[in-house]
Amino acid sequence: MELGSLRDLFVEELKDLYSAENQILKALPRMIKKASSRQLKSGFEQHLKETQGHVERLDKIFQELDESPRGKKCKGMEGIIADGKELMSQDAEPQVMDAGLISAAQHMEHYEIAGYGAVRTYADLLGHSNMVDLLQSTLDEEKTTDEKLTQVAGNINVQAQKAA
Ligand SMILES: [Fe+2]
Ligand SMILES: [Fe+2]
Repeated sequence: MELGSLRDLFVEELKDLYSAENQILKALPRMIKKASSRQLKSGFEQHLKETQGHVERLDKIFQELDESPRGKKCKGMEGIIADGKELMSQDAEPQVMDAGLISAAQHMEHYEIAGYGAVRTYADLLGHSNMVDLLQSTLDEEKTTDEKLTQVAGNINVQAQKAA
């Protein structure tokens, strides 16, 4: 049995998140280039730095668990990023593109929030309190990013509505 225990599921989902975070590290620079709004660009830049920290926290957890972070490709994030790429390939008014980029980024954040919520809870049940702290820190940053995106959208969506 591949998933015989909650610990197995914990490791499986951590691998999924590790793959997701690494895919995000590659996707965000393209989104930064594509964004027109200064505020949106700098928000993406800040989250790129945070995302590097998310990978480091996961590395720490895998070391403590004596498990490899490799071996899984997160198909959920792959799909979300593919949707984003499709958006970015289109000819769009800059403000409309920015509104679309915010939506794409929020799809990414919500996926991460669901994943980190689950593994944080498993870590707690499995008695790994140090891992709970690491995962909670990342979860908090994902939630803050999502809230900031909602704030920026308040402005950009209105501008997108006025475009063309
Ligand atoms: Fe992240
Ligand atoms: Fe994120």
